[in-house]
Amino acid sequence: MCGIVGYIGEKQVYPFLIKGLKRLEYRGYDSAGVALLNGDIKLYKCKGKVADLEKITKDQDTKGSIGIGHTRWATHGLPNDVNAHPHFSDSKSIVMIHNGIIENYTALRKTLESRGYTFRSETDSEVLLNLIEDVQKKEKLPLNEAVRIALSEVVGAYAIVLFSKENPDQLIAAKKGSPLVIGISKDEYFLASDATPIVEYTREVVYLEDLEIATISRKEGLKIVTIKNQEITPYIHALELQIEALEKGGYEHFMLKEIYEQPRSIKDSMRGRISEDGSRVALGGIKDYEDKILAARRIIIIACGTSWHAGLVAEYLFEDFARIPVEVEYASEFRYRNPVIYEDDVIIAISQSGETADTLAAIELAKSQGATVIGVCNVVGSSIARATHAGSYTHAGPEIGVASTKAFTAQVTVLTLMALSLGRKKGTLPDQRFNRLVDDLKKIPSKIEKVLKQNDKIERLSKLFFDATNFLYLGRGYSFPVALEGALKLKEISYIHAEGYPAAEMKHGPIALIDEQMPVVVIAPRATHYEKVVSNIQEIKARKGVVISIVTQGDKVVSEIADHCIEVPDTDEALMPLISSVPLQLLSYHIALLRECNVDQPRNLAKSVTVE
Ligand code: M6R
Repeated sequence: MCGIVGYIGEKQVYPFLIKGLKRLEYRGYDSAGVALLNGDIKLYKCKGKVADLEKITKDQDTKGSIGIGHTRWATHGLPNDVNAHPHFSDSKSIVMIHNGIIENYTALRKTLESRGYTFRSETDSEVLLNLIEDVQKKEKLPLNEAVRIALSEVVGAYAIVLFSKENPDQLIAAKKGSPLVIGISKDEYFLASDATPIVEYTREVVYLEDLEIATISRKEGLKIVTIKNQEITPYIHALELQIEALEKGGYEHFMLKEIYEQPRSIKDSMRGRISEDGSRVALGGIKDYEDKILAARRIIIIACGTSWHAGLVAEYLFEDFARIPVEVEYASEFRYRNPVIYEDDVIIAISQSGETADTLAAIELAKSQGATVIGVCNVVGSSIARATHAGSYTHAGPEIGVASTKAFTAQVTVLTLMALSLGRKKGTLPDQRFNRLVDDLKKIPSKIEKVLKQNDKIERLSKLFFDATNFLYLGRGYSFPVALEGALKLKEISYIHAEGYPAAEMKHGPIALIDEQMPVVVIAPRATHYEKVVSNIQEIKARKGVVISIVTQGDKVVSEIADHCIEVPDTDEALMPLISSVPLQLLSYHIALLRECNVDQPRNLAKSVTVE
């Protein structure tokens, strides 16, 4: 987590740093800071958002054409002014920002303290910085060389950018585990955790790889060496990101904009992947791996959070369409469980950001044991996209709201296309069903448009429930992952406790919670288990629970018994998660607004979880 930016060039750096930090605030927003070099190092930092930082720098000297900035998601030490980044080294001659976690910082700190170093903050970052200063002084080394040597003593993850007043024409950066992009323009260089702060200045970027150290100087430009001191020729990528995608575009919040973007983003996820006549589905990125997937002993899906819910939908899809056994794992559990992984297993790693630390570590584990790893990522060029053998992008466009919405439906779309293609190739999906599914899939964007037209109705509904303290979400079959996702959306942005359950599991425990205070959201489209879910609704009503139900348009049965119904257009039940998740996103959004929560930046969360 944490967002970092840096600049060296001819222009005044402060406006770039502030604008860049605002773009990166989705990565963390508990404190912010900048450091600029203008003869001396000027450092400003505070608890709070980038807007608070702007307030404290309003009347300060912010001149300088070399500088760094940071927006924090606290790992070590409270979010306060002192723990905010950038940090000064002990002698105050070097200043540094860090994203990541230094795991052996306690031992390093003790050693440095015994050598006379004092620490101002509780952070692991300050320990790394003083280690760099110590190596530099002890060995009388140039700063970039000291960084290289110090980093070889460090266990953990980092993306760092630093400069010193002794080398006023140089920025140094390094990374392992946390992302870092370098933008290159005429006589100037930009650094950032992702390309969003950079895109309006240049489209030429270098993605720094793990264990690489970049030295950027005004005279000599960009030089990259590995931690073993081997020189690397930087590979320059062309950015395709559109600036408009990073703005709210007239919506009050990014989350609302992203919910409304879904008809378009789902079309983008399908674009070029379904033949004109609908008879073929092909994902270019995995074409050469399809035989391997079909021959796999099993597919193991690894992901976290919402991406894990998309993985659960995929379990139903792959088993249903292609008859391949699937296991869905939380990446954070999988990586430490000593799992049995066979060489003929295929792993599918799902991640919006492509930077989630647990998912990345699980991928490395699977690769080390010989499995083939396929990625499903949204962010182009992200660490997971690069760490996997092959993969498909979801093409949802930048998702800025911390609560994932369009990324989820884009993931489910891509996974549906994969399952369709595999089922067709294997012969487990009869032509008739394949054709009907493809036909239905193409109609999903216009059906979501219809759901979005019910926004006012959903807003009115939210007024009845915004002060509830608990919610239960139930669904069965393909609607079970939707129930989990609906509950996650509500709890993360409104701070209401919400649980998602398979509807049939209710009688094994959660039914005890039901009384007139308990709103129960039941996802009950016309599908295989419809009658059974209707019985579950009866059971809730018999215990005075309040039922809000998502039903298929024209439903007569549930609408008779549920307290409130939101109708969604009919589709094949395998595609229903793409539609039924949307009213739940809107419900959470409106409830959170009524509770005056910050929907785009909910407390304690960050968009990319690049630490364990
Ligand atoms: O970037 P990823 O898809 O790997 O992120 C995984 C989760 O951190 C993410 O889905 C999280 O649960 C969202 N806040 C959910 O809205």
